Amino acid sequence: MARIAVFNQKGGVGKTTTTLNLAGLLTRRGDDPLVIDLDPQAHLTAVCGVVVPRAEASLYGLYAHGAPLSALICATRNGWKLVPSHLELSKVDTQFGKGPSALSRLSLALEREPAERPVLMDSCPMLGVLSLSSVFAADGVLIPISADYLALKGALQMERTLKALEHVLKRRVPRRYLITRYDSRRRMAVDIERQLRERYGDEVCATRIAENVSLAESPARNQDVFEHAPTSRRARAPRWRQSGGLPCSARLPPV
Ligand SMILES: Nc1ncnc2c1ncn2[C@@H]1O[C@H](COP(=O)(O)OP(=O)(O)O)[C@@H](O)[C@H]1O
Ligand SMILES: [Mg+2]
Repeated sequence: MARIAVFNQKGGVGKTTTTLNLAGLLTRRGDDPLVIDLDPQAHLTAVCGVVVPRAEASLYGLYAHGAPLSALICATRNGWKLVPSHLELSKVDTQFGKGPSALSRLSLALEREPAERPVLMDSCPMLGVLSLSSVFAADGVLIPISADYLALKGALQMERTLKALEHVLKRRVPRRYLITRYDSRRRMAVDIERQLRERYGDEVCATRIAENVSLAESPARNQDVFEHAPTSRRARAPRWRQSGGLPCSARLPPV
């Protein structure tokens, strides 16, 4: 099963929203995803209603004590396995970031997890050990791009970042750009979609995620959109379910 890093170094583009709803979809499909919250802001952890008593019980435990992921997994009320985040993770770069081994820690820890379980990693909006580790550990990167001008600039930055990483990894990182917060009434959104499709072609997912109240409201209820508003157009968007469910024009490769 695929290991997907949901990554964009720009904040507010829909990384957490995408991870939340992809995990919800995979769970409904019976795929039992492992979800890893790599953002020290711990938004996904909070949305899942998980309270971490001490930093060591979060992903921080992997970096601080080499704890296996299996010891850090919490069961969430929505039925996923979550490795939660904690504010202390913001210190990972300064405390444990020296040397190339820091970047491969997560990838090595994931090798000890069942290969058939899909993994979704919600990255933080900074370039550092945590976000780069998620790319190192992933089979593919899903890059949410909100349909606004600064996000388009962010997409070009992401391209440069991935190119630099590919130089180190010595392989191309499969990627899909997912347009989020799309409002077809805005000319700018239409123009940004056109530019993205011209530049990245099939790497842009066929599905766009619309600007939608249910998607914005559901985290406040600790729910994904399928639970919060099962009849909303976003929950029923056909391509969420197409070709095995990933909202991509082409699927990311299996492990
Ligand atoms: N499609 C959407 N429609 C409406 N609001 C959205 C949508 N996607 C994200 N949001 C809202 O935008 C904000 C940022 O989204 P989030 O997923 O937290 O971004 P990131 O993780 O990239 O920082 C949140 O308040 C979220 O509820
Ligand atoms: Mg986020």
